[in-house]
Amino acid sequence: MIEFSLGMPSWAHTMQVESLDARNYTLADAQAIGELLSEVWPNPSKSAEYRRQQLLSVGQNYSGPDAQAPRSFVIREDGRLIAHAAVVPRAIGTESGVMTIAGLAQVCVAPTQRGRGLGELVVKPVFALVDAGDFPFSLFQTSPEVRPFYAKLGACLVENDIINTLSEDLHVSPFWDKVVMRYPCSGSWPDGQIDLRGPGY
Ligand SMILES: CC(C)(COP(=O)(O)OP(=O)(O)OC[C@H]1O[C@@H](n2cnc3c(N)ncnc32)[C@H](O)[C@@H]1OP(=O)(O)O)[C@@H](O)C(=O)NCCC(=O)NCCS
Repeated sequence: MIEFSLGMPSWAHTMQVESLDARNYTLADAQAIGELLSEVWPNPSKSAEYRRQQLLSVGQNYSGPDAQAPRSFVIREDGRLIAHAAVVPRAIGTESGVMTIAGLAQVCVAPTQRGRGLGELVVKPVFALVDAGDFPFSLFQTSPEVRPFYAKLGACLVENDIINTLSEDLHVSPFWDKVVMRYPCSGSWPDGQIDLRGPGY
């Protein structure tokens, strides 16, 4: 369990964030995350079971260093998983070489639980991996509406052209959301094109 509650209202101090290594997700954990993702982003072609399989395959396909292993940060209350943030390592191409960043994905809080500080609690441990030196940056997409949520946590806008040289649509950004951000704002973020070398996340 990780405590990430500094700056939170007093009741939030009781909330605990669990770190789940994607290589060791239990079926029940992957199912619970899949159900939350399906509730937040309903999609008839992506059932909770489909998402569970996708989540399990992320861990099964990973063979890099432990410090960069894909994982989920989650909060449960009364036995229900109500908040989630995933981090997936991605080796991206930049004009200054390849860099493995913390891909932040699937950040969500159950609709009835928003505004309690839970989103902040699950994103902070992802950014803490960067602060600890496990990754140079976190990179992620989001919507204009949610941009202030991440800005408050120290992220800022990325204006580089984003491409995927492993796709046939070379000039189409693999991210589908309008806003791309990175954490932290400081540091030597490269200029020029960023090649995600794979699909958006
Ligand atoms: C975005 C989301 C994860 C935020 O979770 P949350 O638990 O409601 O957020 P928190 O309570 O931790 O909010 C932390 C701070 O960010 C602010 N914030 C949260 N959502 C915001 C939004 N959409 N726009 C602006 N500010 C926002 C809060 O007001 C709060 O600021 P404060 O401490 O000054 O009051 C949640 O609204 C959600 O699941 N949305 C739908 C899925 C989604 O869009 N996910 C993001 C994908 S990139």
